[in-house]
Amino acid sequence: MTQKKLLITRHIAEPVIEQARARFDTVVRESGDGMDEAEVLAALTAYDAILPTLGDRFTAETFARAGAGLRCKVLGNFGVGYNHIDAAAAAAHGVVVTNTPDVLTDATADIGWTLILATARRAGEGERMVRAGQWGGFGPKSMLGTHVTGKTLGIVGMGRIGQAVARRGHFGFGMDVVFYNRSAKQTDFPARQLASLNDVMSAADFVVVTTPGGKETTGLIGADALAAMKPSGIFVNISRGEVVDEPALISALAEGRIAGAGLDVYEKEPHVPEALRALENCVLLPHLGSATVETRQAMGQMALDNIIAWDEGRDPPQRVN
Ligand code: DGY
Repeated sequence: MTQKKLLITRHIAEPVIEQARARFDTVVRESGDGMDEAEVLAALTAYDAILPTLGDRFTAETFARAGAGLRCKVLGNFGVGYNHIDAAAAAAHGVVVTNTPDVLTDATADIGWTLILATARRAGEGERMVRAGQWGGFGPKSMLGTHVTGKTLGIVGMGRIGQAVARRGHFGFGMDVVFYNRSAKQTDFPARQLASLNDVMSAADFVVVTTPGGKETTGLIGADALAAMKPSGIFVNISRGEVVDEPALISALAEGRIAGAGLDVYEKEPHVPEALRALENCVLLPHLGSATVETRQAMGQMALDNIIAWDEGRDPPQRVN
């Protein structure tokens, strides 16, 4: 029997690639960039299965353009977020889409906390100062930041990652946790669900955005929501850049209407606006949420296991459409 053709769109953990090669006629793409529309179209017509990731855009138009030439039957996405794939359009064309939940929850929550602490304690600014040879020595009033322990933590989107961030805040830092979530949510630790997004924005000392990306959350955090925050408030985004109105956030930071921001994601990655890079009161990371060796290996394994399940005629466990 001829092997099915699999495209892996980036270099992922070698043991996962070896398993893929043993089972499929596998091609690993050399480029580190996302695939453009022409490349996605060519891949959809040339491969039975694709293991794509963030930056590879699978739009309704591209599925439609592939038309009768569509060969691909499964997209085993590397990542929990799949807003770069139109999963409904994929389903309409008979393409199964899967993702990689759970295995990256702790790593992503840890990056949320890296940003909370680094922003509150001015770690980015301090590090830049030391490296530039500009540190003048200890001073009772120099580089004062904001205390974290005992403050109020506001979570926007109380899914798996939101709960992991909140749990760390409650158990590790004695924080009062409030949250906004579209549907009613019970937690197994103390946390209060508030009625509206702006209730959370105004109650919290630290707001952490952990919603999924996609049409339903694009622009969720706009000028209004940012205006509801305390002037001492710190804003953290570990979800997707487009959930936040980036120009509105830059204005709020530049005008001192909020105290700081810690960001792991941006509206047009890898572009980070110059105006944001120029601000001292924010900590900027290059989408590191799931970036640990262990997590990335587990994500690759889960993505491949879903494709194998499809190949064996089983329903892939992490199917999303
Ligand atoms: C995820 O898994 O969604 C990460 O943000 C990487 O895409």
